[in-house]
Amino acid sequence: MRINKYLAGCGLDSRRKCEAYVLDGRVKINGKVVTKLSTEVSDRDEVTVDDKKVKPINKHVYIMMNKPKGYVCTKSDEFGRKTVFDLIKGHGERIFSVGRLDYDTEGLLILTTDGDLSNRLTHPRNEITKTYIAKVEGEVDEKSLAELRGGIILDGVMTKKCRIKLIELKDGISKFEVVIGEGRNRQVRRMFEHINKEVIFLKRTAIGDLKLSGLDRGEYRDLTPAEVNYLKFV
Ligand code: URA
Repeated sequence: MRINKYLAGCGLDSRRKCEAYVLDGRVKINGKVVTKLSTEVSDRDEVTVDDKKVKPINKHVYIMMNKPKGYVCTKSDEFGRKTVFDLIKGHGERIFSVGRLDYDTEGLLILTTDGDLSNRLTHPRNEITKTYIAKVEGEVDEKSLAELRGGIILDGVMTKKCRIKLIELKDGISKFEVVIGEGRNRQVRRMFEHINKEVIFLKRTAIGDLKLSGLDRGEYRDLTPAEVNYLKFV
């Protein structure tokens, strides 16, 4: 199999990120540096990354977490902030988060050692929906909502059509359900910024049909076999 797929199968990272390991000259097969992405590797080869042996993982870990706000999704943070990996100590080095929620966002986060699954879930081509609850102060007029639903320019690129529904207007706070099929950096917050509204609360409640359930903030559990199966074929 191709080297990036092999590395993803070792739980290193998603396939796309594993390509960078190869291009950066960090990967050796049987002691020789390989930098070509077309390189094929078999189970008989010895593969190292940064001179550490890596092996395909047969049994992957799949975790659902209710990420609390105040945590980053990177393995370590340059500002010393807490990371979601502090919450799941004991699950080994090879686990990583599928996509990211920003520091102030809470809710459904999947953590896994399965690079292939991560790749499928995050690849823009697959347009897997993510559902969020977003709260803003005051009311938002229909024209602004229609603009967000139809797409706005972020970083020079139009956002895809999305669904936004007002769920509640209470005590001067509007609560929306937002369903987007892409995962650009701070997308929901930046969409509302575009119409001059600051998101004061943001929670992801679902990825595709997989819903956050049965977990308090900061808690996590293994995904059930049915949930893993759903994500593999969504
Ligand atoms: N949109 C955001 O603004 N932040 C997230 O963490 C996820 C989606």
